[in-house]
Formats: sequence, C-alpha cells, structure tokens
Amino acid sequence: MRNLITIPALLLAGAVALPAGAAGKQVIAHRGASGYLPEHTLEAYALAYGQGADFIEPDLVLSKDGHLIALHDIHLESTTDVEERFPGRQRADRKWYAADFSLEELKTLRVHERVKGRFPHMKSRFEIPTLEEVIELVQGLNTTTGRDVGLYPELKQPTFHRKAGFDMETKALEVLARYGYSGPDARVFVQCFEPDALRRIRHELGSTLPLIQLISGSSRQRDLHTRDGLKGVAEYANGIGPDKKLLDDIPGYAGWAREFGLLIHPYTLRADDLPKGTATIEEELRHIYLNHDADAVFTDHPDRAVKFLESENLR
Ligand code: G3P
Ligand code: CA
Repeated sequence: MRNLITIPALLLAGAVALPAGAAGKQVIAHRGASGYLPEHTLEAYALAYGQGADFIEPDLVLSKDGHLIALHDIHLESTTDVEERFPGRQRADRKWYAADFSLEELKTLRVHERVKGRFPHMKSRFEIPTLEEVIELVQGLNTTTGRDVGLYPELKQPTFHRKAGFDMETKALEVLARYGYSGPDARVFVQCFEPDALRRIRHELGSTLPLIQLISGSSRQRDLHTRDGLKGVAEYANGIGPDKKLLDDIPGYAGWAREFGLLIHPYTLRADDLPKGTATIEEELRHIYLNHDADAVFTDHPDRAVKFLESENLR
C-alpha cells in the first residue's frame, strides 16, 4: 500500500525510486538489541535478529588502518575500557579516537554497556566487531533461518574521516558490494547525518543503494526542517531518519516527507526512556507508527516493536 500511495508523488517530485523491501511496517534494531546487551556487539546484533528485527543497525567508524568497525562514536571511552588499556594514547582533548588505533589494538578492548541500569558494567566479554563480521553474522543467520534480515549501516562523521585521510563512503560501498549489497533492491539502507556524503554516494559514486538522510533537531540541520529541505532530500535519498521529536514539533513534517515520496524511519524508541507523559513503549510505538505513519522505527527494544506490529497486524 505504501508504494501505491507514494509512487505518484515520487514521479512528480522527480525523486529516486523506493526500494523493493520498503513495503509494510518494519523494525530497525538500534545498535542491535541494545536495551538488553551492550550496543554494537555481535551478541546484541544476534539477539536483535532472534527477536525478529527486520534490519540490524551498525554505526560505522574507521580504524587507523582503514577497517570499518561498529562503534557509535569516533571516540572509544564511552563504551570500552580504552582508558585502562591504552593510558596516554588520548589526544589533547582527552579523548581516545578510534582512528588512532589499529584493528589489532581495537580488538583487545572490552566493550561495556553505555546506559546505567542496563547490562551490568564490564560483565562478560564483548569486543568491537568489524563491518565484515556484522555482515557475516546477519547473512549467516539468513542462511540458517531462511529469513532475509537487512543491514542498516550509519556512516559516522564522513567529514572527520576525510580530514584524517579516509574516503569512508567509498570504503563502505566496497565492503557492501563485496557481500552482495548493490542496486536499489539491496536489503540495506545506508544512513548518514551529512547530506554531502549521501549526495556524493548517489551522484558522484553512482550508487543506487537505498539511502536515508538522518535529521536531528540541531540548528545545524535547520535546512532539513522545512518542506523545501525535504524536497531537496528526495533528490538523492529514499527516506528520512528524523529525531522522533521533530514529528511532533514541526506541524506537517511527516506529511511533507510523504509528499516527496520519502520513507519515514524515526529514531530512537526505548522502553526504559519514554517521553514525558507516555506510559509504555507500546503507547509510543502506536503514536509513531500510526499517528505519524512511520514505515519503520529505530528501537533499542526490537522485541517490543515486533510484538506491537504483530498484534496490530501491521507486518
Ligand atoms: O541512526 C539513527 C540513530 O541511531 C541516530 O542516532 O546517535 O543513535 O546514531 P545515534
Ligand atoms: Ca545510528
């Protein structure tokens, strides 16, 4: 139904086509099942897969020797023991940058939970995975289960990486292509906050992969908070990944996205961090999926979103 509604708008807007896997409401496992296990670990991704997520989300940064690794930040100290393992390797700003460490060094780090009250701090042994390891896990599970779960990689700070001498966009496309992710029907969405990186992927590097423009509430992205801004996004991306608050704060925002044929994938729904006045994540899921007609949501608790969609016959 979604495609039937939006294709005329796409054609009118001259926008790119919707990816084939876009129909129906879907669940994106935000940093894996990060409500239950430390984010961006193979264990968190595997749990998300088992909970029925449609897409697994790794955030990506580069190591010193050019490997794409799954990590939320360009810095390491929020989710690893880098301070204890590598004292003195921080920069003048007192942060430990992933780009200053080889993959071999990064693999010695222990990953721990970021959020208080979730998985016990520094219990069990988790490590930073490479993009290749994430893909091999998801594709391996697709083989053993017969499902077709997709990948939803986020390129973190391509401009920072470019200044450090890395072409992150090309590197990511190379790895994805090596594992069979190419063309508009690939079971993947490439997401980024930086419009220039996505425009480059689409127009300069010539990729036809499904692309999602992430949009925060920051004034730095105010150009994307308008109808004209979203019209521009539709020239290079298949959808938007807005901060969920934008849908409530900007009247008509979801409608503008629809007008230009853009998918709507808001972030981030968390059972243990609900908006004021919201009693349960199911209440919030209903609001985002139904009142704002989101096609998919990023959530730390994929099991709850899957159950909600199934109970409402929405997937
Ligand atoms: O990529 C969607 C959402 O994850 C963006 O926020 O900071 O959690 O990567 P962040
Ligand atoms: Ca992300």
